Amino acid sequence: MQDIIVKDIAAHLGEEVRLQGWVRNIRSSGKLLFIIFRDGSGEVQAVAFKPDLGEEAFEEAKRLSLESSVIICGVPKEHQKLAGQYELSVTQVQAVQIAEEYPIGKKEHGPDFLLSNRHLWIRSPKQWAILRIRHTVYFAICEYLNDNNFFRFDSPILTPNACEGTTTLFELEYFDEGQAYLSQSGQLYLETGIMSLGRVYDFGPVFRAERSKTRKHLTEFWMMDAEAAYVEHAENMAIQEGLIRHVIRSVLARCDKELDILERDKDALKAADTPFKRMTHYEAIEYLRSKGSEIDHGSDLGAADEVMLTEGSPVPVFIEKWPKAIKAFYMKRDPENDDLVLGSDLIAPEGFGEIIGGSQREDDHDLLLGRMQAENMPIEDYQWYLDLRKYGSVPHSGFGIGLERLVTWMSGIHHIRETIPFPRMIYRIYP
Ligand code: 4AD
Ligand code: MG
Repeated sequence: MQDIIVKDIAAHLGEEVRLQGWVRNIRSSGKLLFIIFRDGSGEVQAVAFKPDLGEEAFEEAKRLSLESSVIICGVPKEHQKLAGQYELSVTQVQAVQIAEEYPIGKKEHGPDFLLSNRHLWIRSPKQWAILRIRHTVYFAICEYLNDNNFFRFDSPILTPNACEGTTTLFELEYFDEGQAYLSQSGQLYLETGIMSLGRVYDFGPVFRAERSKTRKHLTEFWMMDAEAAYVEHAENMAIQEGLIRHVIRSVLARCDKELDILERDKDALKAADTPFKRMTHYEAIEYLRSKGSEIDHGSDLGAADEVMLTEGSPVPVFIEKWPKAIKAFYMKRDPENDDLVLGSDLIAPEGFGEIIGGSQREDDHDLLLGRMQAENMPIEDYQWYLDLRKYGSVPHSGFGIGLERLVTWMSGIHHIRETIPFPRMIYRIYP
């Protein structure tokens, strides 16, 4: 008898097969026992008929509880009522472990209870769907980059310096070397990589001691940073747009069932796969003010501003050319206006907010040094970074995508905490 997984069931109609997994649900009615069986790859209804199984085996099978682990043998057939679905006529049931009463029931649970039971919650259909979308988004990002000549270049997580300002650093003692920090972004290291490989990316966990208690912030999240030599600001945005549109198409093509489970509006996703809008920070502020906001031209955008800026837009919006005072030290000055930098934020539609931060980098040694001195940065710790501007400096650009922000948007869910197996937030580190 062949071992198969639920996903492949259609290829085995009429053959006796063996499946290994868990009981999602079980009910009996007279001589019939209905087991909703799941194995990670999918779900199928297994139907056991007492006369086929025999009295003793049937009673034994009835002992299965929610989430018990089980091995079921049976013959797959087309579902009697649901076209395109299958069911299994059970020939044998072997309980692997009878689960204790499962704490996550059918009644509504609050988020705190579910988060405390995250190790079990991930089995629920919606969580299963989100985790599979995460997998698909991750894969699609790598696929696009690989197809566009980017090489994977892993940046370190333990670092002697900050990438994104010093206010959100997690610090630790590093042996006799003193203070070290958990990386906030691999960007600065990626800039070294382009001088060797041309185009590079990293993909890994980054850390921010964000005091923000919002539905968009985690303290540990996954970032994909990409960096490319001889790419300037406009081309940098074009690469981001191509990548995000590839991700949208991949999710629509590969996660149809998952999107259904989440009741995601697929038309909204499809609509986002058309040319993105571009707006300068100045234009954005003017627009917000025209809508009654009192925001001034030197201000960063808050979550509510991002929502307003994308309202009615089916596609993401790039906000570019920011005041240098509110952006990171490494961004290149705008040759047309000394007060601005060639940075861009990409804001997702439907209220999902910023998903990418990127910029052209300052490639002139003295200008960069001046900027760092003005910000009182410890120059000795960044000597290696300044070196890049001494030995074959080139115009270059890059960007960083927050994986969980992108998965939140693709999944159409409310809170970022469901997009990573074990979310880390200021008020939660268990389990
Ligand atoms: O905009 P950020 O801070 O940009 C950088 O770190 C650059 N060094 C990236 C680069 O150019 N290589 O962060 C990039 C993205 C944001 O757009 C957002 O999607 C995500 O990372 N992000 C967070 N996601 C979850 N929780 C947080 N606390 C996040 N902070 C940023
Ligand atoms: Mg940002």
